[in-house]
Amino acid sequence: MFSKVIFLLLLTALANGDLYNSSDPMVLLNAKNFYETILSSRNGWIVEFYNSWCGHCISFAPKWREFSKEIKDWNHTIKAAVIDCSDEENVSICRDYEVMGYPSIRFFGAYTQKGNIGKSVKNRGVSGMQSEIIDFIIDEEQSQMANKSKIPSSWVNLLSYQGTLKDIFKESSRDVKNAVLIVEKGDSKVACHSILDLGKYPMVLVRRINSEAAELKDFNLNKFPSVLVIPLKGNTKVLLEDVSTPEEITALIFHHLRLTRNLLQMNDVLTAYRSLDSKLKQGSEREDIEGAGDGNLEEINSQRLNYDDDLPDAAFSNAHVQVNMVDIENGLSYALRHEVTLHKVLEGETLEALKSFVTAIARYMPFRPSLLNFLSKLREFLAHKKSLSGVEFEKILKELESSDAKLPDKQPWRGVSGKRT
Ligand SMILES: *[C@@H]1O[C@H](CO)[C@@H](O)[C@H](O)[C@H]1NC(C)=O
Ligand SMILES: *[C@@H]1O[C@H](CO)[C@@H](O)[C@H](O)[C@H]1NC(C)=O
Ligand SMILES: *[C@@H]1O[C@H](CO)[C@@H](O)[C@H](O)[C@H]1NC(C)=O
Ligand SMILES: *[C@@H]1O[C@H](CO)[C@@H](O)[C@H](O)[C@H]1NC(C)=O
Repeated sequence: MFSKVIFLLLLTALANGDLYNSSDPMVLLNAKNFYETILSSRNGWIVEFYNSWCGHCISFAPKWREFSKEIKDWNHTIKAAVIDCSDEENVSICRDYEVMGYPSIRFFGAYTQKGNIGKSVKNRGVSGMQSEIIDFIIDEEQSQMANKSKIPSSWVNLLSYQGTLKDIFKESSRDVKNAVLIVEKGDSKVACHSILDLGKYPMVLVRRINSEAAELKDFNLNKFPSVLVIPLKGNTKVLLEDVSTPEEITALIFHHLRLTRNLLQMNDVLTAYRSLDSKLKQGSEREDIEGAGDGNLEEINSQRLNYDDDLPDAAFSNAHVQVNMVDIENGLSYALRHEVTLHKVLEGETLEALKSFVTAIARYMPFRPSLLNFLSKLREFLAHKKSLSGVEFEKILKELESSDAKLPDKQPWRGVSGKRT
C-alpha cells in the first residue's frame, strides 16, 4: 500500500518534470540528437533551452506550446525545438551554448555551425516571438544575399520584391501557377506572417513589395496592405477586400486561390469533355435533363472566376485526353465535400460561382443518373440562396442524398491516360 503511494508520487513528480512530450508540435532534443538536428540543417531553428524544475519555465511551457503550434506550418523555413538542461546528459550542451538563465530562446539560421550560439529571442509572448523571428529571418536572408550565397530553396523569401511583375516567376523553381504580391506601406512587416503561413502551398509564390515601387504606379492603389494576384498567364488582378491583419491577408489569398484552383480543375475537365462532343453524344442529351437547364460554360470561364487568368492543367487542355469518369466523380465529390465546405460563409461571387458550376457540370457531364439527380437537387436548393455557411452546405449534401440521388464517396483513382501534373 505504502510503496504504491510512493510510486504514484514519484510518477507525478516525473510527469511534472517533463514539460514537453512527443505529442507537442516541436522537436525534443537531447545530448544524442542535438548536433545532428541543429547543425548544417537547411531550415532554421528556434530552440527553447529550459530547466524542468524552474518555475518560469513551467509557467512559460503553455506559451511555448502555443507558439510552436502557431509556427508549425512555417517548417519550410523554421522549426521549433526544446532541450531540457536539468538533465545531466544534456547539461554540457547548454553550457556550450552559454545558457545563463531559463528559459533561454535562441534562433539559428540555415546551415549553422558549431560555435554559433544563436541569436537570443527576448519576447515571451506568442506574437512577440513571431515578430522577432521574422526579423531574424529577414536579417538572415539579407546577409545571404549580401554574401551572394543563396537562400535555401525551401525557404520563403521575406525580402521586399524588387523586380518587375513580369519577372516574378523567374525567381521560383517551383511549379508555381500564381504569384501574389502583398503591397505594404513604409516598413510594415505584416505580410511576412502571411508569406510564412502560405509557404506550404507550392502552387503559389507570395512576396511582399513596398507601396512606393514604380511597378505599382498603374494600379493606383490607395489602401494598404493590398493584395495583387499575378497568374502565370493572364492579367494581374487587385483583390479589393479590406484586410489589415496577417490572418485576414492569409485568409483572403487562401480563399481566392483555393476556390479557383479546385473549381479550375473541374472546369478543365468540362472543357476537355466538351471538345469531345462527337464522341460524347450524351453531352447534348444532357440539356433535356430537368433541372440542369441554363448552365453556361463561357459565363463561368470568363466572367465569374476569371479562369482565363489561370494556366489550364496541361493534361486536361488536350481535347483528346481520356479522363476516367471515376476520377471526375472523385474530383467533384472532393470539391463539394471538402473544398466548398471549408468556406465559413458562401455568398456573393463565391456562391454564384458555385451555382454556375453545379449547373454546368450537371449539363455537360455524362454522369450516372443517381449523380445527375443529386446535382439537380443541389441546384434547386442553391437557386434561391443568397448566403449559406459551409457547415450548412455540408449538412445539405447529406440531406439531399436518397436512394436515387447520390454523391459518390471517394473511390480509388483510376488515373488519366496521358500525363497529369
Ligand atoms: C503529453 O502531455 C500532455 C499534457 O501536456 C498530455 O495530455 C498527453 O497525454 C501527453 N502525451 C503523451 C504521449 O505522453
Ligand atoms: C512540415 O510539416 C508537414 C506536416 O507536418 C510535413 O508534411 C512536411 O514534410 C514538413 N516539411 C518540412 C520541410 O519539414
Ligand atoms: C534532455 O532534454 C530532453 C528534452 O529536450 C529530455 O526529453 C531528455 O530527457 C533530457 N535528457 C536526456 C538524457 O536526453
Ligand atoms: C556574410 O559575410 C560576412 C562578412 O564576411 C560574415 O560575417 C557573415 O557571417 C556572412 N553571412 C553568411 C550568412 O554567410
